[in-house]
Amino acid sequence: MPTPSSTVADGGNRHCHSTLALALSLLVVPCFALLAESGGIPTTLDGPFPPVTRAFDRSLRQGSDDVPLTDPRLAPRVQPPAPEQIALAASADADSLWVSWVTGRAQVGANLAPLDPASVRSEVWYGERSALDADADAYTHVARGSAEVYSQLYPYPGLLNYTSGAIHHVRLRGLRPATRYYYRCGDSSIPGGGGLSEELSFTTLPATGAGSYPRRVAVVGDLGLTGNSTATVDHLAHNDPSLVLMVGDMTYANQYLTTGGKGVPCFSCAFPDAPIRESYQPRWDGWGRFMEPITSKIPLMVIEGNHEIEPQGHGGAVTFASYLARFAVPSKESGSNTKFYYSFNAGGIHFIMLGAYVDYNRTGAQYSWLENDLHRVDRQATPWVVAAWHPPWYNSYSSHYQEFECMRQEMEELMYKHRVDIVFSGHVHAYERMNRVFNYTLDPCGPVYISIGDGGNIEKIDIDHADDPGKCPSPGDNHPEFGGVCHLNFTSGPAKGKFCWDRQPEWSAYRESSFGHGILEVVNSTYALWTWHRNQDAYGENSMGDQIYIVRQPEKCLLQPTSASSLNCSPGGCPSPMSSDSSGALPTFTSGQLFQKIFVIILFVCDRSKRTKWFSHVLDQLALLRLHFPFLW
Ligand SMILES: *[C@@H]1O[C@H](CO)[C@@H](O)[C@H](O)[C@H]1NC(C)=O
Ligand SMILES: *[C@@H]1O[C@H](CO)[C@@H](O)[C@H](O)[C@H]1NC(C)=O
Ligand SMILES: *[C@@H]1O[C@H](CO)[C@@H](O)[C@H](O)[C@H]1NC(C)=O
Ligand SMILES: *[C@@H]1O[C@H](CO)[C@@H](O)[C@H](O)[C@H]1NC(C)=O
Ligand SMILES: *[C@@H]1O[C@H](CO)[C@@H](O)[C@H](O)[C@H]1NC(C)=O
Ligand SMILES: *[C@@H]1O[C@H](CO)[C@@H](O)[C@H](O)[C@H]1NC(C)=O
Ligand SMILES: [Fe+2]
Repeated sequence: MPTPSSTVADGGNRHCHSTLALALSLLVVPCFALLAESGGIPTTLDGPFPPVTRAFDRSLRQGSDDVPLTDPRLAPRVQPPAPEQIALAASADADSLWVSWVTGRAQVGANLAPLDPASVRSEVWYGERSALDADADAYTHVARGSAEVYSQLYPYPGLLNYTSGAIHHVRLRGLRPATRYYYRCGDSSIPGGGGLSEELSFTTLPATGAGSYPRRVAVVGDLGLTGNSTATVDHLAHNDPSLVLMVGDMTYANQYLTTGGKGVPCFSCAFPDAPIRESYQPRWDGWGRFMEPITSKIPLMVIEGNHEIEPQGHGGAVTFASYLARFAVPSKESGSNTKFYYSFNAGGIHFIMLGAYVDYNRTGAQYSWLENDLHRVDRQATPWVVAAWHPPWYNSYSSHYQEFECMRQEMEELMYKHRVDIVFSGHVHAYERMNRVFNYTLDPCGPVYISIGDGGNIEKIDIDHADDPGKCPSPGDNHPEFGGVCHLNFTSGPAKGKFCWDRQPEWSAYRESSFGHGILEVVNSTYALWTWHRNQDAYGENSMGDQIYIVRQPEKCLLQPTSASSLNCSPGGCPSPMSSDSSGALPTFTSGQLFQKIFVIILFVCDRSKRTKWFSHVLDQLALLRLHFPFLW
């Protein structure tokens, strides 16, 4: 915790100085008292919170280069036909799991002949005992699947083609929940065992039901594979998650020409004459190998982002070939007929992964599927519903501001009516956590939206806010790579009639431009701890940039599957943004609210023109205090 007194070092505005010092010292005492009471972690019940921004730390670089394919973590480690890029994915429930891997060498060049995917078998040998400390019969089961090959073809002079290794997908069934399994994958018919992986292991997710939750769900977005991405993945691995959600934009293979070379932060800037947005598909193979130490042990759940579009063929006739071929996702198991959206359960959490780059209109197939999926959710079995898709609906950064406003207008009401609890998105390369919100109105029953696109990719960090002077995007900016443009001016509140706010919007609780990842730990049917870890913090104690208990209020936010008008709120949102306490007690000031009022007065008295460097520093400290002790406000 910062010690404000130590910052009151040099002079400045004497009047403000003494008043602030007094107020700060008054603040610190109740701080510690309350800290002891609550464990120091705020909850969403204490919200909505006054918006807080922590500015980009200028001592950090805004990004770094991609790790080259020659790096040992990306280079091939086994000889074909041994499996590589081994990855697990959850199925619809804990009794089933997908295992995927690649055999054979990918090729880049001209006149390529694709591999025959049926030439190598797709088998997973598995059991509850390790062959290392049991007998040769440790693997009591074998599951078989199939393989596919995809090609990335660019029929333009001077561009090279790519064809992949054989990508195998096998679904294991009849698994026991929360149980450790040992496995080898590959082709057992190859003499000498060279077609099988070494022994690996995983623990199945807990059974669907409100009594158990995955220990830790890691959430990461827009990862890429730079020096910053590797820092993110190192920290994530230290956090020992039992499931990883990746909210799109995975490898940034489309920051390269088809001839490889060096990846660039901006493709169109570096290669204005490219006939099409090119890509260097071997980056996907390098990424698969880099991620393997994690993905061969823990299910990785992906959803497509714009960097997965990867147009190919004449004029981009074919898209998403790599995404569709490489990842197994439980689409069929969840009643979806496409890998672009799907759902699954992990203990008492129902996860819904949505596609922002396929039709999301009310008239479309995805919307109907979502309606059915939400209808089928049994909140006794899975009290938590967590949704994820790539581009955020709520975002106060200049980057991608209101870009997916059409999708919000089509889908938000459905999600709100079904009381989706948390929404994760990426796309914006920074962190932002929203106050509970519906239709741009603070609402205690709205989801908690979190943007976590700060994985550290080559495009660098986003630091501008739409409310910063001169940083409001113009109508021509932020057109989505799929779907329409629905930019709107706000109809109420301080930004009424305007496209951008002139301060951090009230629905944005906390934003910071740092790279990192998040961990969701669901405690029980109403409490979940969310922690955002920043890469620049030494791993271990005090390594969190943001932490909050996300608290469900099922008794207050009764599920009303048919009509929003039957809620205690109008369809436009609940009338009061403040959580209206059902006890009906008369409003009283808490000590925190009293201090808030005092500070508002001090800030008013010390007018902006007199803000010295010292004063700005104190304001920073106040922002930090507000961040760590929001219940005081
Ligand atoms: C990204 O990584 C580089 C070194 O790899 C470091 O210098 C830079 O500060 C990092 N940037 C951020 C925002 O963490
Ligand atoms: C790549 O594939 C396309 C489509 O088959 C073909 O037209 C083109 O000539 C190929 N390019 C090379 C360099 O072989
Ligand atoms: C979705 O609806 C909008 C508005 O009706 C329309 O402009 C758009 O083309 C539709 N998109 C698709 C993919 O059908
Ligand atoms: C929307 O707001 C912008 C300024 O933020 C203004 O220039 C524009 O005229 C507004 N549009 C409408 C339709 O009110
Ligand atoms: C859930 O956990 C929180 C925090 O530990 C606790 O206060 C609450 O009573 C628990 N609720 C239930 C229903 O067990
Ligand atoms: C959201 O707010 C807009 C503007 O105030 C309003 O026109 C619209 O009906 C609201 N939508 C819902 C679903 O309540
Ligand atoms: Fe993106």
